[in-house]
Amino acid sequence: AAARPAPAALLAWYDRHRRRLPWRAAPGRRQEPYRVFLSEIMLQQTTVVTVAPYYEAFLARWPSVAALAEAPLEEVLSAWAGLGYYARARNLHACARAVVARHGGVFPDTEEALLDLPGIGPYTAAAIASIAYERRAAPVDGNWERVVARLFAVDEPLPRAKAKLRALALTLLPDARHGDFAQAMMDLGATICTPRKPACALCPWTEACVARAEGAPERYPVKVAK
Ligand code: ADE
Repeated sequence: AAARPAPAALLAWYDRHRRRLPWRAAPGRRQEPYRVFLSEIMLQQTTVVTVAPYYEAFLARWPSVAALAEAPLEEVLSAWAGLGYYARARNLHACARAVVARHGGVFPDTEEALLDLPGIGPYTAAAIASIAYERRAAPVDGNWERVVARLFAVDEPLPRAKAKLRALALTLLPDARHGDFAQAMMDLGATICTPRKPACALCPWTEACVARAEGAPERYPVKVAK
């Protein structure tokens, strides 16, 4: 049987190969919750390259959650133009107002309390909890799902496999560096464990990967036939 994927191996890889992205804090630093919130909402249906200039523009114009909460909705919507899925912009604004009204402008620091905010679902709650607050939380996105499906050769197809992939993802979490681990999973999925032609030779978990041992990493994640 393959060795258990060690979180330390992924974290060491991340220390060398992390992507420099505008919403990331310097190594060893926590990111402000507002910045994690803003970037993660933008990144939900939009690529890293498209998001970067919007993220910078929003941050320059509304540098804090309080500033965003005070902005007229129309201005937020017009600054959002080009990102698409405008419901996200409405939710962003509603959430900023709720953080100010209910929490004095400070994002809560647990997944449970974050989930109570408008526009924050399980993914965003886990992203803020781990990246901003170093909570043990798994913001499972498509990258995480692909990595986990391959590591454990999960035969069950998506979307049915989501609960199983999530449960397996939780078994991978380290005891520290939760924010780095979350973003390392995203980087691994985006740059090494890609949907097509994954670069297994460069992967820190190649020895632990069951799909790799089977010789067919691209087979995973299995999807329900359309
Ligand atoms: N996609 C979603 N969140 C991300 C993040 N924090 N870094 C890189 N890609 C992401």
